[in-house]
Amino acid sequence: MATVLLIFAACGREVQEIEKMSFDFAKFSTGYDPEWLSTGFDDSAWEELNLRETWDTQGYDKYDGEAVYRIRFDLPALSGSDRGPDLLIYLGKIDDADKVYVNGKYIGGNGGFKGDGGSDISFWDIDRTYAVYGNDPALNWGGSNVLAIRVNDKELEGGMYDGPVTIEACTEKDIASTNGLLGDPAKRHHIACQELPGGKIRCDATVRYYLREPAKGRITLLLKDDETGKTKKLFKSEPLELSCGSEYTTSLTLDEAGRAEIIAMFKGKVLARIVPPYILTPKAPAEPVINGPKVYGVRPGSPVIFKIPASGDKPMAYSVEGLPKGLEVNPDNGVISGSILMEGNYDVTLKASNGKGEGRKAFRFVVGDAIALTPPMGWNSWNCWGLTVTQDKVMASAKAMMDKGLTDYGWSYINIDDAWEADRRDKSGKILTNEKFPDIKGLGDWLHYNGLKMGIYSSPGDETCGHYLGSLGHEREDAETWASWGVDYLKYDWCGYGKVFNALDNKGREEYIRPYALMSKILREQKRDIVYSLCQYGMDNVWEWGAEVDAQCWRTTGDITDTWNSLKEIGFSQTVQHEYAAPGRWNDPDMLIVGKVGWGALHDSRLTPDELYTHISLWCLLSSPLLIGCDISQMDRFTFNLLSNPEVLAVNQDVLGKQAAKVWEDGDIQIWMKDVEDGKAIGVFNLGRDSRSVTIPLKELGLDEKSSVRDLWRCRELGRCAKKTFEVPSHGCFLLKLK
Ligand code: GLA
Repeated sequence: MATVLLIFAACGREVQEIEKMSFDFAKFSTGYDPEWLSTGFDDSAWEELNLRETWDTQGYDKYDGEAVYRIRFDLPALSGSDRGPDLLIYLGKIDDADKVYVNGKYIGGNGGFKGDGGSDISFWDIDRTYAVYGNDPALNWGGSNVLAIRVNDKELEGGMYDGPVTIEACTEKDIASTNGLLGDPAKRHHIACQELPGGKIRCDATVRYYLREPAKGRITLLLKDDETGKTKKLFKSEPLELSCGSEYTTSLTLDEAGRAEIIAMFKGKVLARIVPPYILTPKAPAEPVINGPKVYGVRPGSPVIFKIPASGDKPMAYSVEGLPKGLEVNPDNGVISGSILMEGNYDVTLKASNGKGEGRKAFRFVVGDAIALTPPMGWNSWNCWGLTVTQDKVMASAKAMMDKGLTDYGWSYINIDDAWEADRRDKSGKILTNEKFPDIKGLGDWLHYNGLKMGIYSSPGDETCGHYLGSLGHEREDAETWASWGVDYLKYDWCGYGKVFNALDNKGREEYIRPYALMSKILREQKRDIVYSLCQYGMDNVWEWGAEVDAQCWRTTGDITDTWNSLKEIGFSQTVQHEYAAPGRWNDPDMLIVGKVGWGALHDSRLTPDELYTHISLWCLLSSPLLIGCDISQMDRFTFNLLSNPEVLAVNQDVLGKQAAKVWEDGDIQIWMKDVEDGKAIGVFNLGRDSRSVTIPLKELGLDEKSSVRDLWRCRELGRCAKKTFEVPSHGCFLLKLK
């Protein structure tokens, strides 16, 4: 299908260069008035703030709320052209949320503003990069422009603090890595792909011609196949005369294939390119294969809830050889339940059979003090539903986790994040759920029956990050209430505790520890194992003392969002924590940004397929808890395959519990490596804009030159590692195992 349309008016000749502009200071006022966003507003009476420090250090100590920064910049006149270059605006980090405008037009934002009817959501630790297209009518070429940054500070320090702000011309690739909204994608050539029911991929390639002089030629779509290295012509249009304002769209359907790139060309010039979603994980066999960890830690007498994770045709019959006294297995759904009273190691064989065969796996129950012997794997409501979470939405993802077969790969936690709490306690001080969660105990029972586990969220402060009730002063009541509901996991989020902490004279480590140690003591008194997950964004190097407060996981960073910048900043900065990881002690660089995410307003993750492979590979190497952040009921085949590769997940669930370290860096190439039970797991990552060929520096990494290598995503032996060159795409990776 192909169409030609005529749509726009502004057409230019040549795009010209501009000089990079850099700003250390901006005009500043607390408060907010829509008038302050406009170009014409007179800000001469406003004072100037340094953009490298928060406003708290510049006369606005402890100011929380809204404020506006204004930066005036000139753009050159366009000689013989109506279209300037696309602009990339870099703002650094902003505490906590921002909305950004150019000449009064909104171009993007991160985090949330309560003042706008939303809720205050902090994105304080994320770099902001926004783009404006060169033909955006909001831009004033040959005149003065105003960049207005509206900031919302929820608590603690506030404002822009990571300057200078820069504005420069950019390429399409830069635009793809911005984390603001884009100027107006309707003004660009682009290719967009989506999965069709049945697994084929449909791509719509749209070419938009904006030059004043018409041009004659054909539009060609090429497919460059990675595996074969061959370029195939997919489509060639009839000869066209593209005139200013014409738009040309063609749609194509691709069969499921390996990694390939679609390139749209006109008169020998590349107009747009995209890598459609591609599946690497081979199809699971019909015979039962038992996946998941090899160990399960449980405390004496605590309930065991473990579903045998087996892929293959259903129905399946499950059994266990050598099951210790106190445990039983449901032969129909494979759920092992009960409890073991005596400490010790209990070795069993898990079994699953169907009409096609039988799968077996050696497995150990470790009854003792330690739990979460491998990183927790499951789902959390935050990255998809934010504060709009409901019990129905939680059930929908839990059900889809089972129906789609993610539970066959060891996914088991269903964690409710913020916004389940009622706005007041009952007379006895007991915390209640709000109307969105009519029966949380029933939800817990249903999850447990199905071999899933339930997680909950609270804060050691008086309120949570979403301004719901926190546990301050009610720690015991809350832990007991959660245990009575059947809670198996607690995420305990600092937020409201900031107020208590700020009022202290002594802000030493013991004060960071205090609220977390208090809750951990009470959790341990409950008659069930509750995985304890600290969320305080890495303050005071939490990884150095997380295990001391008896936590199993601790967030090491601020909140993640679904952009390459955020993924890169968070994932690749985990360079010092690896020494602290061990079975039952996990560094947590935040939840997964795969599938449909959006903190209440769902959209497809803005990560490209290559970036998503990088995301999962790195999180597995880092032995991070894996918490799916999307609505699983809307999960596509690509995302399912990304999360159900047994060899990749085995890197995360490895029994040694090591965390990978960065062992090699050469420009944009980074190699991360960790010991696993049967060799070394290695990730080769390309953080740069162009693909790169990499050979693994075996000698420098102390590896045997005779090592053989396996490609874990493709589940394929590659032979002697020394002979291999890996063609690593931009923002992509290879995940390997060396033996
Ligand atoms: C903080 C946390 C998030 C989420 C929200 C809930 O921002 O870091 O992961 O739990 O609070 O309000």
